[in-house]
Amino acid sequence: LASKNKIGSGSAPVNIALSKYWGKRDATLNLPTNGSLSISLPGLGTKTQIERLESQNQQTDLVSLNGQRLDQDNAFAKRVSQFLNYFRETPQTFFKVDTENSVPTAAGLASSASGYAALVLALNDLFAWNLDNKSLSLLARLGSGSASRSLFNGFALWHQGQQADGLDSYAEAIDTTWPEFCVGLLEIDVKQKPVSSTQGMQNTVETCALYQAWPQQANQDMQTILQAIKDHDFATLGKTAEHNALTMHATMIATWPPIVYWQPESVEAMHKIWRLREQGVAVYFTMDAGPNLKLLFLETEKPAILQAFKQIKILEPFKS
Ligand code: PMV
Repeated sequence: LASKNKIGSGSAPVNIALSKYWGKRDATLNLPTNGSLSISLPGLGTKTQIERLESQNQQTDLVSLNGQRLDQDNAFAKRVSQFLNYFRETPQTFFKVDTENSVPTAAGLASSASGYAALVLALNDLFAWNLDNKSLSLLARLGSGSASRSLFNGFALWHQGQQADGLDSYAEAIDTTWPEFCVGLLEIDVKQKPVSSTQGMQNTVETCALYQAWPQQANQDMQTILQAIKDHDFATLGKTAEHNALTMHATMIATWPPIVYWQPESVEAMHKIWRLREQGVAVYFTMDAGPNLKLLFLETEKPAILQAFKQIKILEPFKS
């Protein structure tokens, strides 16, 4: 028999921060110490379906990832169930959640961002809330900070906000298209990261003296990149994004115990990019909580990039 149970569905893209979120002022509400700005990658992301479980005997959520049912004590399933606690109509309401990721989970490619954005969209559909983007972004932020930015295509800006209740900390789309804008994914290693971003942020905030300089620098970088997007000034955008990522990684490295997401191949790729720049190729990189690089360049440099990095995956965020 076909189930009469309503199914809610949602899908959302991954996003890459050009100026990063690193550090929480409130770990429960995922309130950041600084604003951040990202570009979404349509075609890479998460599709989620959710339904209420009918059976009285079912006393847990059923979570599956890429077609595989997860154990209750699986870290991903636990985190999803914890997030769903915000939305249960009664303590006895349980959900079935099916998640399909087209990105490797926890490989520094921000699958949690697209994941919680897609889950919130699926909940919005299931409960017929008809929420606006601001409210959807606020809810997605509760699942994973960077998810607040994954409700949008193109560039998005997540406001730091000042309020203790977090109601002013949400993301908005930046209304600009830039058809020539390219992002290259250079996969170094897709294994699960050794330190989660939540844990990494906490350790950094608590033990890294350099971190004090971060929030101000990050907010300034965000404004510089916002203006560069409006001006289509690629050199300023690339330079600021790369410097921002390296500054974030500098605070991680100066944490105790040290957090070094880089692999030798990551550093090798950085040097290759710097050499290309010396040769006149306008390419910059950014990196998140993992060893992989994301290259930033304009369409005119595509041939040079493909020649230099044979296995790179190139995405054109404004062309799909
Ligand atoms: O949203 P989280 O908790 O996965 O943190 C994301 C942190 C970075 O990816 C390193 C930076 C960012 O702004 O996306």
